[in-house]
Amino acid sequence: MTNFLETERLIIRSWIPERDAEQAFVIYNDPEVTHFLGKASLVTSVESQRQRLIDNIEQWHRRNNGTGSWAIVEKETTTIVGTILLKQLPDKDGLPTQDYEVGWHLRRASWGKGYATEAGQVMLNYGFNVLNLPVINAVVKPENHASIRVTERLGMKPIGRTNKYYGIELLLFQLDAPEE
Ligand SMILES: CC(C)(COP(=O)(O)OP(=O)(O)OC[C@H]1O[C@@H](n2cnc3c(N)ncnc32)[C@H](O)[C@@H]1OP(=O)(O)O)[C@@H](O)C(=O)NCCC(=O)NCCS
Repeated sequence: MTNFLETERLIIRSWIPERDAEQAFVIYNDPEVTHFLGKASLVTSVESQRQRLIDNIEQWHRRNNGTGSWAIVEKETTTIVGTILLKQLPDKDGLPTQDYEVGWHLRRASWGKGYATEAGQVMLNYGFNVLNLPVINAVVKPENHASIRVTERLGMKPIGRTNKYYGIELLLFQLDAPEE
């Protein structure tokens, strides 16, 4: 299995549904993790988690534009500690726009270690340097203070509230590609 990206403490790699479903389930079966992600994010069985990973991989293959969601693996323990994603923001009908977002979900036991920021930084670099995106966005529910702090640590600029994506009101953060 080839690693997609690497940081000091983390490996970012593709999901392997057969092998990873149980560890993904630890993340998405936890209402504390899915609280700000919407009800549909809560997974109730390992089997449905496996199917969700399979469906996601198929979706990224269909899009075939370098976007996706990847497993964050802690090097020290080889445990999957979360998900990092870079994808097109959906409009209110769920259709992909031409705006791209970075996103992070960590299992509860791995909060407070800086992993979302570390994985977010390498994903931003990938978006700017490999996908040549001019701007990368993050959208966060106004009450999700932990996620807002991640955008701050990444140097993303607060733009204000928006209704353009997901059919709900969200706070928008942006980072421009570094100047050549
Ligand atoms: C959003 C979420 C990923 C943030 O997790 P987090 O652990 O707070 O963020 P980071 O991984 O960047 O870690 C930063 C924290 O680790 C601490 N930390 C410890 N060691 C660190 C290190 N080496 N480097 C950076 N920060 C470190 C920081 O002080 C900070 O804690 P603080 O906010 O209490 O000051 C997490 O709360 C989560 O998964 N929530 C559920 C899913 C979700 O809502 N996702 C966002 C949707 S928009």
